Amino acid sequence: MTKSAPIGVFDSGYGGLTVLKELAKQLPEYDYLYLGDNARAPYGTRSFETVYQYTLEAVQWFFSRGCELVVLACNTASAKALRTIQQKDLPFINAHKRVLGVIRPTAEVIGNYSISKQLGVMATQGTVLSKSYEIEINRFFPQATVYQEACPMWVPLVENKAYDGAGADYFVKQHLNQLLAKSPEIDTILLACTHYPLLLPKIEQFAPKGMKIISQGSIVANSLSKYLLNHPEIASRCSKNGIIQCCTTDSTVDFDANAAIFFGKPVKSIHILLGH
Ligand code: DGL
Repeated sequence: MTKSAPIGVFDSGYGGLTVLKELAKQLPEYDYLYLGDNARAPYGTRSFETVYQYTLEAVQWFFSRGCELVVLACNTASAKALRTIQQKDLPFINAHKRVLGVIRPTAEVIGNYSISKQLGVMATQGTVLSKSYEIEINRFFPQATVYQEACPMWVPLVENKAYDGAGADYFVKQHLNQLLAKSPEIDTILLACTHYPLLLPKIEQFAPKGMKIISQGSIVANSLSKYLLNHPEIASRCSKNGIIQCCTTDSTVDFDANAAIFFGKPVKSIHILLGH
């Protein structure tokens, strides 16, 4: 019997399911193990140290479940924890395993969507303060100017299923207006938080006509496909039975009720504990 080695997909809560959905669409042959740290979400307003600690605990949990490759499908965790985990922790834990994030694959292509090369990035406070997008986008598109807008209310709106109401109208308009006031030339907006695709209909409703609004799911899935092709030694260690298992650190009843909205299909999760 071959041992199960699913691809780990991590988020603070439900947002990473928007990435998992695209991964499962583009790479259906792989097994996936999703973990939402719902009990400790949101991460966006937490300190670097806390996000790093929580993310490291999650990565160790994925490794204990046989994962050879873990995708941090959370911009906040990618911004605040990924580099330290890759550089300081992985060599000690297991140098053959891999942890990837969502910022670099997005930064590599986002400039291609823009004609004016004036890009708007909407993200959590943690991701904005880290300046990761500014730095990474300018590495691949030195001529681009990146304008960031922290949207601290957007994740709570989404987590509380209020992405369709009057509260969402107010906060979507407020942050779009604040972003666009930074430059009238912005022609592309990146939704740099995996929760935000749920707000896409509202964002499209209030954004100027012709504005490109980009979600990350398919970008990350494209990038992972290429990565697995270029790293057959990793791809061959990941199990391929097309099985998807979801886990949450909070109530499975709540998770299953909400997850389908993000994943697009019913989900039956298992409860796990982190940091014990
Ligand atoms: N979904 C996460 C991200 O992409 C953040 C949500 C949170 O604040 O926990 O940044």
